[in-house]
Amino acid sequence: MATRPASNPQVSIIVPTYNESQNIISILKSIRANIPKGVWAETIVVDDDSPDGTGRLVDDYVEGLRRLAEDTVSVIHRRARQGGLASAILRGIQSAKAETIVVMDSDFSHPPQVIPRLLEALRQYQCDLVVASRYVRGGGTRNWTLKRRMISKGAAIIAKLGLRVKIKDPMSGFFAFKRNIINGLAFDALGYKLLLEMLVKANSNIKVHEIPYTFENRRLGTSKLDTSLYETVTEYLRAVWRLYRSKRLKETAPKERRSVRFLSKAARFFTVGASGFGVNYLVSMLFASGLADFWYVQANAFGIIASLSTNFVLNKIWTFEDRDFGLKRTLSQYGRFAAFSSLGAAVQLGAVYWLVDTHGVSYPLALLAAIAVAAFSNFVLNKKLTFRESLWD
Ligand code: GDD
Ligand code: MN
Repeated sequence: MATRPASNPQVSIIVPTYNESQNIISILKSIRANIPKGVWAETIVVDDDSPDGTGRLVDDYVEGLRRLAEDTVSVIHRRARQGGLASAILRGIQSAKAETIVVMDSDFSHPPQVIPRLLEALRQYQCDLVVASRYVRGGGTRNWTLKRRMISKGAAIIAKLGLRVKIKDPMSGFFAFKRNIINGLAFDALGYKLLLEMLVKANSNIKVHEIPYTFENRRLGTSKLDTSLYETVTEYLRAVWRLYRSKRLKETAPKERRSVRFLSKAARFFTVGASGFGVNYLVSMLFASGLADFWYVQANAFGIIASLSTNFVLNKIWTFEDRDFGLKRTLSQYGRFAAFSSLGAAVQLGAVYWLVDTHGVSYPLALLAAIAVAAFSNFVLNKKLTFRESLWD
């Protein structure tokens, strides 16, 4: 295997490592074993001076291969863990000699058996980017807690809504692409989601395809990305916000008229409201179902809290484009948002009663009018008082 013509490799596989001494050699062997016959591939390990000696292990391994007259593996030693995962991957890409690049983790979460399918899909569908996806039919995760699944899905939904990313698993760290699609792009390499940044910044007519795979939990070593949940989430939202802005800049939309901006924000606000309806219903049903088995009133309370929260977050980042997630600021906004929502409900009840009882309006008509009034006043109140925008901006 691994015949080595004098020309450049056809495939470069980028494997970032930080404290992976227990995995790195076996993953390198497994990668080597899974490169399709006849394909010349190089593997580039990018190590950030792992304290556990990962880098030295790879040096020895590379040396061993060299003695067998094989130089299919190389290692980039960065001096420290600066810039994190995405920047490590970018560093690897810079040194890659092939036109086709594969990016994957080193802890067996991304099974090397999928590599041939990634390469095959690039060819078969004639596309520029193939993503190994947990969220297409046939893909998945094994032994993930409900919490982790929900966070992961939630992040994907935010990317989809906020950045109009079309694929199902934009948070994947396992993908293959033609390097020309990133020519000339400037990356922030913010956080650890390089793929997301590629999807947003690359030319919108690149062809992308997803293939299913199952994410395996690592067996050895520890994950580097679970710091506190709050930090992970705010870091992610900040990255999404930056991407959102760079996207806007790229689109260089002529400045919209104020009325258009007002209406488009109102439309977003009402769209969020409608999504809250769905969340409310689903969560209320879920908590009352055999799964959780709460008393239905409690279950409905959870549904209300859940939809209030998703409505708040979506309105904050999408409707009102507020990226500041400082804890105090966010909590006080959340409080005001909740208060106005309750107020809206009260206004609605009052208005229905007033219209039907003292004006003899039919109930359906009164209901429509009341909902419209409540939703609109809710929008105005939150715009001015929760997110502190002037009314016409
Ligand atoms: N060089 C370098 N520098 N490598 C790093 C760094 C860093 O700062 N941080 C993490 N890595 C390496 C790890 O050694 C591992 O090979 C890979 O990057 C992923 O890190 P994990 O710590 O195992 O991440 P995870 O399993 O929580 O996260 C994964 O899940 C995401 C999807 O939920 C990663 O696979 C992501 O790529 C994926 O998007
Ligand atoms: Mn991992």
